[in-house]
Amino acid sequence: MKKIILKISIDEYDSVNELNNDDRQLLEQAQKATDTAYAPYSQYRVGAAVLLENNVTITGNNQENAAYPSGLCAERVAIFYASSQYPDVPIKSIAITARANNFRINSPITPCGSCRQVMAELENRHKNKIKVILMGETGKIQIIYGIENILPLTFDGDNLKK
Ligand code: THU
Repeated sequence: MKKIILKISIDEYDSVNELNNDDRQLLEQAQKATDTAYAPYSQYRVGAAVLLENNVTITGNNQENAAYPSGLCAERVAIFYASSQYPDVPIKSIAITARANNFRINSPITPCGSCRQVMAELENRHKNKIKVILMGETGKIQIIYGIENILPLTFDGDNLKK
């Protein structure tokens, strides 16, 4: 038996003032996107802003449904739209944030497993690492370079090759 220990790396900042302009602006766009989330069931509004390598920004937010599993997370709404409009343009970074109607979110939101998997697919598709910027309503900001840091042991297209 051999134990394998994986390391992941997260940069943590105390304030948005420590971020560079691009990252801060992307986070602001994600925050704005929470305004138009459709979250009547969870009351938990998530916003995502995707910055493409051609400098276009696409935003998205969570879209819920009375049949719960039919809804979609903010990250995938934004990423799928970006990918449908600019199929050949890699994603540079994605900012994700959330606010709830009935409590204050003081720590960075972390994307769900399905959204991580979708981000991993885009990284592999374009051979381009994605920077992930995470924040709650208040509190610290976390920045992650490369999806392997939030989804180790990723299942990708290579797994399907004979
Ligand atoms: N949600 C997102 O939009 N992104 C995440 O990464 C986690 C969860 C949404 C799904 C649902 O509309 C609400 O947050 C509560 O789970």
